[in-house]
Amino acid sequence: DGARVIATLPGDGIGPEIMNVAVKVLETVAEGEGVSLRFEEHAIGGDAIDKTGKPLPEETLEACKASDQVLLAAIGGYKWDNLSSKDRPEGGLLQLRAGLDCFANLRPATLQDELLEGSPLKPEVIKGVDIMIVRELVGGIYFGEPRGFKDADGDRAGYNTMVYKKSEVERIARVAFEIAKARKGNLVSVDKANVLEVSQLWRQTVADAFEADGCEADGLSLSNMYVDNCAMQLCTNPSQFDVILTGNIFGDILSDQASVITGSLGMLPSASVSSPGKPGIYEPVHGSAPDIAGQDKANPLGMVLSAAMMCRYGLNEPEMADIIEDAVKSVLAKGYRTGDLMGASPAGAELTQVSCSQMGELLLETIAE
Ligand code: NAD
Ligand code: IPM
Ligand code: MN
Repeated sequence: DGARVIATLPGDGIGPEIMNVAVKVLETVAEGEGVSLRFEEHAIGGDAIDKTGKPLPEETLEACKASDQVLLAAIGGYKWDNLSSKDRPEGGLLQLRAGLDCFANLRPATLQDELLEGSPLKPEVIKGVDIMIVRELVGGIYFGEPRGFKDADGDRAGYNTMVYKKSEVERIARVAFEIAKARKGNLVSVDKANVLEVSQLWRQTVADAFEADGCEADGLSLSNMYVDNCAMQLCTNPSQFDVILTGNIFGDILSDQASVITGSLGMLPSASVSSPGKPGIYEPVHGSAPDIAGQDKANPLGMVLSAAMMCRYGLNEPEMADIIEDAVKSVLAKGYRTGDLMGASPAGAELTQVSCSQMGELLLETIAE
């Protein structure tokens, strides 16, 4: 029927609550724009463990491979926390990313003007912040071998391997170069080259690729920063950053930290992309938030903005992305906030606390206007 297939993976905790909002928003916008989408739901994470015994059933991986794009909410929860790494919900997510070869994880930390006073950081420090974190997603210490537990002279040890091949660094660096060209052109590669060989290779490879590609002539600048310093600078002087290029684990940590600028971890979307023509995975940066799951309290905006990224980058429907992003801005401008954004209320502002599903209804009303 020509409809594009979106594989939806609600997962665990707040996952189904926020997915519900995103799918309704997408359906409404697609209908208005005359775009034909079909949503097909599949199990992942703890939900899939309970149903099939595996965090990423074969059926789910095959369906995602055959889909146009994948929309994922969140996985994980206390119930499955004692399983081995590959059997737990997080293992399913990692297998999905690797199975689709979604090596480039784009995590924009953009402060919406409406939330300038919603962050615990000072407004003058965060004003206008617009950072794109480009995180390598299918390598590094998350996937390096050997890994495991072993006896160490009568003691017990757990170990992992942080490894990057030149080719893996080159391909993520080139994604960052292209993104930087479409932005301010200011690229910072973040590593721990003062201690780690893997980072020394990373730094040299990024510099060589930058040179080989003639990036300077294209107006790009490249600098390097140690990850510990970067974590500090994200709090004290975040507006210096445009594009941050980094590896898997550093990007994981720095993106949660960067979310503080935007007011809440619940605001941050992401896109995990593979080679052109292959499906990408669109998912919020946060997890399944088991502490608030099932209470209709979650902020669905990171999920909804991930759906907008899917429209823009995955479906090539920029108008749909614009409508969704404008609707988010509009409900925030009207003062509606989920609980996570109520903490630092600006003096004198009229804010209304709403539930996850109410935020969804407000988005639909705004889109219909
Ligand atoms: P988390 O991101 O789930 O939650 C951290 C804190 O932020 C919690 O207090 C939570 O309530 C809050 N929060 C997160 N998203 C929110 C939202 N949309 N609205 C309001 N508040 C929100 O991280 P955690 O607690 O460290 O991990 C919980 C589980 O999620 C673990 O099993 C973890 O492995 C998993 N996890 C999954 C993903 C993913 O699916 N991509 C990402 C991170 C963590
Ligand atoms: C994220 C999450 C995942 C990661 C976990 C759940 C495997 O924290 O998407 O940021 O570390 O990549
Ligand atoms: Mn994370």
